[in-house]
Amino acid sequence: MFKRADYLAAVEAIRSQTTFPAKVGVVLGSGLGGLADAVENAVSIPYSEIPGFPVSTVHGHAGELVIGTLEGSPVITQRGRAHFYEGYTPQQVVFPVRVMHYLGIETLILTNAAGGVNAGYKVADVMILNDHINFVGMMGNNPLMGPNDETLGSRFPGMSQTYDRDLRQYALRAAQENNVPYHEGVYMCLSGPTFETPAEIRMIRLLGGDAVGMSTVHEVIAARHAGMKVLAMSGITNECIDAIDTPLDTNHEEVLEAGKLLVPRMSAIIRGVLRSLAQAGAK
Ligand code: HPA
Repeated sequence: MFKRADYLAAVEAIRSQTTFPAKVGVVLGSGLGGLADAVENAVSIPYSEIPGFPVSTVHGHAGELVIGTLEGSPVITQRGRAHFYEGYTPQQVVFPVRVMHYLGIETLILTNAAGGVNAGYKVADVMILNDHINFVGMMGNNPLMGPNDETLGSRFPGMSQTYDRDLRQYALRAAQENNVPYHEGVYMCLSGPTFETPAEIRMIRLLGGDAVGMSTVHEVIAARHAGMKVLAMSGITNECIDAIDTPLDTNHEEVLEAGKLLVPRMSAIIRGVLRSLAQAGAK
């Protein structure tokens, strides 16, 4: 179990390299790390230099914080994340989010690669999350399990207002303005690392999931626990296979390939959201 001092040690290591007044954090998912290239005046800090930070072992996930400005706003960008399926505990997976909190981040924007379960979703569409189903959590893997630090957040946080309404509106507007094909929908989080069977895909659809993936929800929970505002977006990298005996199978290469199309699209949305946030803050 991590203690407050562990998070503060990581904060100290980051602050020793740059003191930056960022209020917005961005987490980049599989194949989406290219978004960090747009950060200006960037200072990069490898996760291996930050005590406690989990290092991703997955191809397509570099491991570094990129700190600088985007659309004129100071941001801390996490290029690459750790996943539960890599063997990290849910608490380890959310360690960087809590460090972001102690660094002063108030708004967290998360991205991920996800499979399209909703039959209306196409490869390279963007889904803005308006809700989630924490399937991994229901199986007993919630990052808030264990002793609760009351200085961080409450023992029983509510989850009915998880995805901030204003941020979703900003994201939808930015998608429209940039002609990005988008949806609003429900993300279901499974542990992975296997992709789903056709029967599982039909189950997810029945249960109300529009997209499926292996990340994000742990981090969203930790962020909400600590009182951050959250926006999350899925880049749809593949259409999920819901019938047996087709010649198709989902693979990581197609996920990374679609990521290339998604980087400029999600980048345009994030830039639009940052502009809207700056305008709202200036009022
Ligand atoms: N399933 C789970 N996770 C994923 C998928 C998928 O089809 N695509 C990208 N991440």
